[in-house]
Amino acid sequence: MTDPRTSRHNTAENQATSVPSASSAPAAPHAPSDPAGAPHAPAPGSAAAGTATAGSDPAARALAALRTARHRTGVLTDSVTDDDLVAQHSRLMSPLVWDLAHIGNQEELWLVREAGRRTGVRPDLDHLYDAFRHPRADRPALPLLGPAEARGYVAQVRDETLDVLSGVDIDPDHPERLLAGGFVFGMLAQHEAQHGETMLATHQLRSGPAVLDAPAPPPAPADAATLPREVLVPGGPFTMGTSTEPWALDNELPAHQVGVAPFWLDTVPVTNGRYADFIAAGGYRDPAWWTPEGWRHVQEAGLEAPLFWSRDGDRWIRRRFGHLEPVPADEPVLHVCWYEADAFARWAGRRLPTEAEWEKAARHDPETGRSRRYPWGDADPGPQHANLGQRHLQPAPAGSYPEGAAPSGARQLVGDVWEWTSSDFSPYPGFAAFPYREYSEVFFGPDYKVLRGGAFGVDPAACRGTFRNWDYPIRRQIFSGFRTARDADPDRDGTSGTPAGGGAA
Ligand SMILES: [Fe+2]
Repeated sequence: MTDPRTSRHNTAENQATSVPSASSAPAAPHAPSDPAGAPHAPAPGSAAAGTATAGSDPAARALAALRTARHRTGVLTDSVTDDDLVAQHSRLMSPLVWDLAHIGNQEELWLVREAGRRTGVRPDLDHLYDAFRHPRADRPALPLLGPAEARGYVAQVRDETLDVLSGVDIDPDHPERLLAGGFVFGMLAQHEAQHGETMLATHQLRSGPAVLDAPAPPPAPADAATLPREVLVPGGPFTMGTSTEPWALDNELPAHQVGVAPFWLDTVPVTNGRYADFIAAGGYRDPAWWTPEGWRHVQEAGLEAPLFWSRDGDRWIRRRFGHLEPVPADEPVLHVCWYEADAFARWAGRRLPTEAEWEKAARHDPETGRSRRYPWGDADPGPQHANLGQRHLQPAPAGSYPEGAAPSGARQLVGDVWEWTSSDFSPYPGFAAFPYREYSEVFFGPDYKVLRGGAFGVDPAACRGTFRNWDYPIRRQIFSGFRTARDADPDRDGTSGTPAGGGAA
């Protein structure tokens, strides 16, 4: 085996894209595994119109996921000029041309050299595109491939990848964990899809005229205005995480029982309208609503509203992918940091849900006692379920996607906006790093808060009921929103007979 290094990803991917240096890269552990299923509702016009399902052939599934991700990479990099491609639009982000060649380099490392046991295309590029070696702010100064070279490089790698895929054994029972069920192909498809989200965030930070276009989401369904404000999630243990989801990443494993006390959860994410109420009520000027760290950050960073919002007379407007427009009151709020989400919840007399609460609300089926792959069931995401895959370049109105509702009645748990939880990013009991520590393990701890559910910019292949994202509590260039929760009152809510169960939360 060669020395694989790849990128792990929190979708915000502040520092890590690639991973271990050659010295720290594991010599490719190959244990049996359970990789596979990439759901797919490719964007309209996607080159990968084929739908990959959890039950389909691993090679076909891998091919569809790789093609869908590559289609988005093409849209996001071909839509700007070469000057824009090499520019750094924010110090928080890489030049788009770095993302592009990095995608190819990671694919070469893992699929051509590791899975294919081939020499590779340009091993000399490894150091340039190792995200652990070069922080984003430093990447523009590197002797990077130019736009034409980068495009040629990723195309050449892809040709080799497809050749490898056509001949390699990725049977679900393959003894090497990386290959079993095509896991490593799924890992790299998710990697490219996550860079598709990262590059979309770069587009949002970029100044200048709009270059991306997509239809607006459908209007809210007729019942959106009459939905209950909150839904009751029953107490008791549930299965968190997975040991069977084929393309799940190490931090989602293994499945384990967690006890959750009964709680109330917002039926839909907090909207711009409600968030504007918080601002109008002086929320950003009253330390009572903020943690000490949050209050310090608000002061130092001068926060007054979500990122990309500004005042226009007596109304809020926002910049969205180059368009200036009024902030829609009924859309889930976007581009808020964890501190802002936490402060809003306190102001509202509520709190953020824990990660376990979020997952129970999204996956637990009280009728069967089992945890679903998604809020609506086990079927891969379709356009009727959730706003994913960059089909739309904004969240859908609150209350959308009734077919994607969880058993509790909560809507939009998957898609639209990433949802901050109150939880730090921690390993599950029995966690084992795979395929290397830098994928997840080095990020565990109190520095990062967990986000769940995926946003409109997330590919369905990189989103599921168990998927965990994480980022610093100050970050808000990501597609982040939230919903709030509160403890159930056993006397008033009739939940006293529901044991909370035990286990980690
Ligand atoms: Fe990466």
